[in-house]
Amino acid sequence: MDDDGDTDVLSASSGDNKIAWYENLSPITAVHGPITKIFEFKALLELAQQRHGSFKQNFAEKCTNFLQGPMEKLKMKGTKMENGVPPLAQRIKQTPSSATVRIADIATDLKSKDIAVLDFSAGRAAEHSPDYINQAASQALLTGDTHQTKAQGKHDYLEMVARKLERENNLSLDPDKSIMATMGCKNGLTLALLAIIGPGDEVIVEDPCFVSYQATIGVCGGVTVPVPIRRENRFRWTHAELEAAVTERTRCILLCSPQNPTGTVHTEEDLDMIAAVAQKHNLWVICDEIYERVTWKAREHICLATRPGMQERTIGLMGFTKTFSMGGWRIGFMYAPESIISAAVIFQQHLMTCAGSFTQAGAAFALAEEYRPEVMEMWVDWEKRCDTVATEINKIPGLSCLPPEGGFYAWINIAETGEKSEAFAERMLRDQHIALVPGAPFGASGDDYVRMTCVKSWADLHLGLTRIRQGL
Ligand SMILES: Cc1ncc(COP(=O)(O)O)c(C=O)c1O
Repeated sequence: MDDDGDTDVLSASSGDNKIAWYENLSPITAVHGPITKIFEFKALLELAQQRHGSFKQNFAEKCTNFLQGPMEKLKMKGTKMENGVPPLAQRIKQTPSSATVRIADIATDLKSKDIAVLDFSAGRAAEHSPDYINQAASQALLTGDTHQTKAQGKHDYLEMVARKLERENNLSLDPDKSIMATMGCKNGLTLALLAIIGPGDEVIVEDPCFVSYQATIGVCGGVTVPVPIRRENRFRWTHAELEAAVTERTRCILLCSPQNPTGTVHTEEDLDMIAAVAQKHNLWVICDEIYERVTWKAREHICLATRPGMQERTIGLMGFTKTFSMGGWRIGFMYAPESIISAAVIFQQHLMTCAGSFTQAGAAFALAEEYRPEVMEMWVDWEKRCDTVATEINKIPGLSCLPPEGGFYAWINIAETGEKSEAFAERMLRDQHIALVPGAPFGASGDDYVRMTCVKSWADLHLGLTRIRQGL
C-alpha cells in the first residue's frame, strides 16, 4: 500500500482479459478478468499451467507472455487481500494468544487422546465451586432470574459487594455509584482501560505480570510500559525504578497484589510508595486484586484505595474466579470513583450488556455471610500445597523458587538448567507430560522462569514434582 492508501498492482491485459498481482503484498492473491474476480494465486497458477505447462519463471514475465500484453502498474482502491480473504485488523497482529490458556488447551487436547497430562498451567484450582453457592445460582435460574440486569449490576449484588468491601477491606463505598458487576476481572480491566486511556497513552505494569495485561492495554489503544520487578527485591519496585518509568504519556499504573506470577503481596510501604508516585504525576492506579483472599503466613491484603488520598484515583478489580474456584461463572466487580463507574457502565451496555443475572445472584449469596468452613478449609489446604511445592522445588538441583506470599503460583527459576522458558516448558510437556507455563510471555524478565499452579490435587502435585525431577 502506498502513502495515499492505494494498492500497487502489477497487471497485464489482452482484450477483455486482465490479470493482476498485488505487488509486495499478498503473493497468493491475484485478480483476473475485468478487475472484479479475485482468484487465489493457486487458481491462477493452475490456469497458467494449463496454458503454458510448467510455471517456473517469474510470475510477471509469465503473465506478460500469457496475455501477450505489457505489464503495467495500476492503482487500486481498497485493501489488500491476505490469505485469500480481506485483511484482519492490525491489532490482532499485535495480540498474541494467552500463553496460559494456550498451554492449558494443548494439555486438554493431549488428555482427550488419553495421554495422562498433569496440567499445572492455568490458574484453576482442583476444587469445584462450593455447593452452597452453586445452589443459590441454580435457585435463581429455576425461579426465573434469567433476564438481563442493569448494566451496572443488580442492586442486591452491589449491596453485598459494598458490605464485603466495608467488612473485609476497610472501604466505604456507595453501591449505586462506586461499584459495578463485571464478567470477571478481565472484563473489569477492559472497561477500566477503555475509560481512562486513549491512543498512545502509557500504562506502567510490573514485569513479569499477568499475561493478559499487555494484550488488553494494546486492544484499548494504549502502550504497555513494563518495569522490571527484581527477585533481589522480592519482586517489587523501588521508588526510583517506578519514578523513572513515568513520562508525559503515562496515565495509569496497573498493579497486581497478590501478584501473578511472583506471589508477592504488597506491603503498606510498597503501596505508599506507589501512591506517592501516582499522586505526584496525577495518575490512575488499577489494582487487580483477584487473589486478595488468598494470602499466606497471616499476611493481609491491603487495598491501595485505603491509603490517604488514593480512593479518588484507584480502580479496584476483584472476583470469584480464584478464591471460590468459580472461574467458569465469569463474575466479579469493580469499585472506583463515580466518574469511572459511569463511563464503564456505558461501555458495558455496548459490550456485554451486563454480567450474568443468576451468576450475580450466586455471587451475592457467597458474600452475604461469613465464609463457610469448607471454603476456609480449602484456603488453608491451598496454603499447604503452595508451601509444599516451593519446598520441594527448592530441593531439586538447578531449580529455585521463593515461597509465594499469596496467590497460588510457584514462580520457578530455571536459569541454572541453561534452558530458556519456552524450551523448558515444551520439553516437560512433551517428555514428562506435565504442563507448566513458560515465563517469557509474562515479560522480558520471565525467560528464566516457568510458572506452576500449586492448587491442584495433592496426588497430582506429588506426581508432578516427581516428573519435574525426572525431566531434569
Ligand atoms: C492477575 C489476574 N487477573 C485476572 C485474572 C482473570 O480473572 P477473571 O477470571 O475474574 O476474569 C487472572 C486469572 O486468570 C489473573 O491471574
